[in-house]
Amino acid sequence: MRNRLLMLLACILLVAGNLSGKEKIETFEVGKGIFLLNGEPFVVKAAEVHYPRIPRPYWEHRIKMCKALGMNTLCLYVFWNIHEQRPGEFDFTGNNDIAAFCRLAQKHGMYVIVRPGPYVCAEWEMGGLPWWLLRKKDIRLREGDPYFLERVELFEKEVGKQLADLQLSRGGNIIMVQVENEYGSYGTDKEYVSQIRDIVRRAGFTDVPLFQCDWASNFTNNGLDDLLWTMNFGTGANIDKQFAKLKQLRPDSPLMCSEYWSGWFDKWGARHETRPAEAMVSGLREMLDKGISFSLYMTHGGTSFGHWAGANSPGFAPDVTSYDYDAPISESGRATPKYYQLRTMMAAYSSKRLPAVPREIPSMAVPASYFRFTGYAPIESGVDTTLFSRNIKTMEEMNMGWGSVLYTTTLPEIKTPSVLTLYDCHDYAQVFINGEFVGKIDRVLYEQSLPLPAVKAGDRLTILVEAMGRINFGRAIKDYKGITEKVVISTEVGGHETAYDLKNWSLSLLPDDYQHAKRALETARTDELKQGSLPLNRGYYLGYFDVKKTDDTFLDLSSWGKGQVYVNGHAIGRFWNIGPQQTLYVPGCWLKKGRNEVIVLDIVGPSKKEMQGLKEPILNQLNNVKPKTHRAKGEELDLQGETPVCTGEFAGGNGWQEVGFEKPVSGRYVCIEALGAHDGKELACIAELYLTDAQGERLSREGWTVRYADSEETGKGNRAADKLYDLQESTYWSTGRKSPYPHSVVIDLGGEYTLGGLQYLPRMEEGAPGSIKGYRIYVKSTPFKL
Ligand code: GLA
Repeated sequence: MRNRLLMLLACILLVAGNLSGKEKIETFEVGKGIFLLNGEPFVVKAAEVHYPRIPRPYWEHRIKMCKALGMNTLCLYVFWNIHEQRPGEFDFTGNNDIAAFCRLAQKHGMYVIVRPGPYVCAEWEMGGLPWWLLRKKDIRLREGDPYFLERVELFEKEVGKQLADLQLSRGGNIIMVQVENEYGSYGTDKEYVSQIRDIVRRAGFTDVPLFQCDWASNFTNNGLDDLLWTMNFGTGANIDKQFAKLKQLRPDSPLMCSEYWSGWFDKWGARHETRPAEAMVSGLREMLDKGISFSLYMTHGGTSFGHWAGANSPGFAPDVTSYDYDAPISESGRATPKYYQLRTMMAAYSSKRLPAVPREIPSMAVPASYFRFTGYAPIESGVDTTLFSRNIKTMEEMNMGWGSVLYTTTLPEIKTPSVLTLYDCHDYAQVFINGEFVGKIDRVLYEQSLPLPAVKAGDRLTILVEAMGRINFGRAIKDYKGITEKVVISTEVGGHETAYDLKNWSLSLLPDDYQHAKRALETARTDELKQGSLPLNRGYYLGYFDVKKTDDTFLDLSSWGKGQVYVNGHAIGRFWNIGPQQTLYVPGCWLKKGRNEVIVLDIVGPSKKEMQGLKEPILNQLNNVKPKTHRAKGEELDLQGETPVCTGEFAGGNGWQEVGFEKPVSGRYVCIEALGAHDGKELACIAELYLTDAQGERLSREGWTVRYADSEETGKGNRAADKLYDLQESTYWSTGRKSPYPHSVVIDLGGEYTLGGLQYLPRMEEGAPGSIKGYRIYVKSTPFKL
């Protein structure tokens, strides 16, 4: 008996010994001026990648691509809304299996930084928040709203269940966890940020340093004493300047740029964005020379598949499906020239030889002749449910997250032409009378109204409203979809205005997922529709293509209108012929040898029902869209006879500057006249501009529009004057080439305000190119003479 006991003990010791031998527990700490990994100085070289933006079969390839760049860490967001699509139903399987992603990273010797939100921004639908939060109409998102916090806690607990055991101390590879995201661009509320910190801890993230990220200009507003502070800035930024304030406040803190933007995202109807490789690489080199940790956002952007792309504001600027981001690793996982430049630089900062670059996943062309469209179903076939309501309803009120709504009502007799106005249209409406198309109302273009012909009593008005991604940045994230308030027809007869607030709606819901598209096509008896006889109309198109191999391809949608595509049941993403994106990335791992199904939901209708797969993507082709500028032909600002409220000179260099007026003034139109530049050249640039009230507080810029700008650079980049209030410090208004000083911009504040001064931010790049020296500021209640 004694012997048997001794044997048992020996076995237990052996097993325990083996276990501890295998699991070498590592440590990661915030040291004095540097991070410490296992007690040794450690520079975090992180690659930002988002697992839902990469098909799971390709995860490993992308991780190896990051590793071959010399990165030692992966940084990732957790997108709440993809994991909890319906309240209380959590999904961490398949492409959502975040723990599997982290373990895969660990297998390849990579550490992980987790950024679990709850808000993430990221050009992702509603910044990662679930749409169903909006069903509580008075919800205060990202604030101490009890319901919001309760839902956040429930979700973060689930994240904890998936990931807490993967913290470094427990044998995993998670070294840091972020609390909230750039809260300074949303508000000032340390109490709320502390609540999120506590939720993150209660979710189980107790063993790793917690950190906050923000901009150099606002990180102190919400910086908590017990969290690490890191800065976000982009390619070209003046790095010393970015860390100056942090160094002064916390001289012992390790420095980290938690988002160093490699490129930028694209929006429908705006030019494709790029950032030079040299500037990106030299910024990273400078950080490495100075021992500064970083995360390269994005190292590989991937794709916002399905309906997951978000939108930006002010205004409404929906993001395209591709999240290529001009990152070193392209959307489809290829090494770009930027990649190789970066790799060469990074190799010099690595003690070991970098692993070889993994083999590229090949791409293929699929000729148009391989595609056959055999089925069509009109848009109405996709209707899931029809409700009746006296008043108009938003999609959220009808418990619907994504897709389109057909709003239908009957009209009274209106004998003269009239104007139809949607308050408000979110996001793209097409209007029909008795089934005949009358026109569209596009939120992107700030459209709200359209002219209607005379109508008879009983005529049927139908408005098809398609929702695009919810806004993911700023206060506008509370972005309801459909028609948000009411529909009004106004006429003028004999000098009298009559307004009809339309009631008694039938509301037909068209969800935008694959199952609904498939069902629509089944119910429409597709067998009766033959190739060649399909109408070029709004609706669902069913087709197939045969391939012999399963390489990646880029579906060319340039002859289609606007909508979504599904390949073999996978939601591939949104398309819109205005561009700049004309092709959609179809990963080869979702294709089959032989027959592949393709379904297109086109809410506008194609010009040709043709399709092909290309070997290369087209991400930079704007069709029939002129970049929006703010000077009509022949307009010339006339400031003669106007008296400035303030004149002076801005200082040179980077960083915010403030100007106070002698006494508060009241007005609606503000003109900034720039008289010359610090470098004596012709360029004038402004990254951001705020007006302050009599107490020096920033005024909201929500109602702002640019009334006039003498010159705007829209030939290559998106540098129109509205960039000076787009909330993004790294984008800017720039005048164009061959356009000498003086320069001027006029802003319509949308209403009368009392103004006490202004705050001005020059460009973030070293030397602040285009920084203005002499200025005059004018404020008026009536428009300027043009
Ligand atoms: C910020 C956000 C990110 C992303 C970038 C722009 O830094 O934190 O989520 O939106 O801007 O790409």
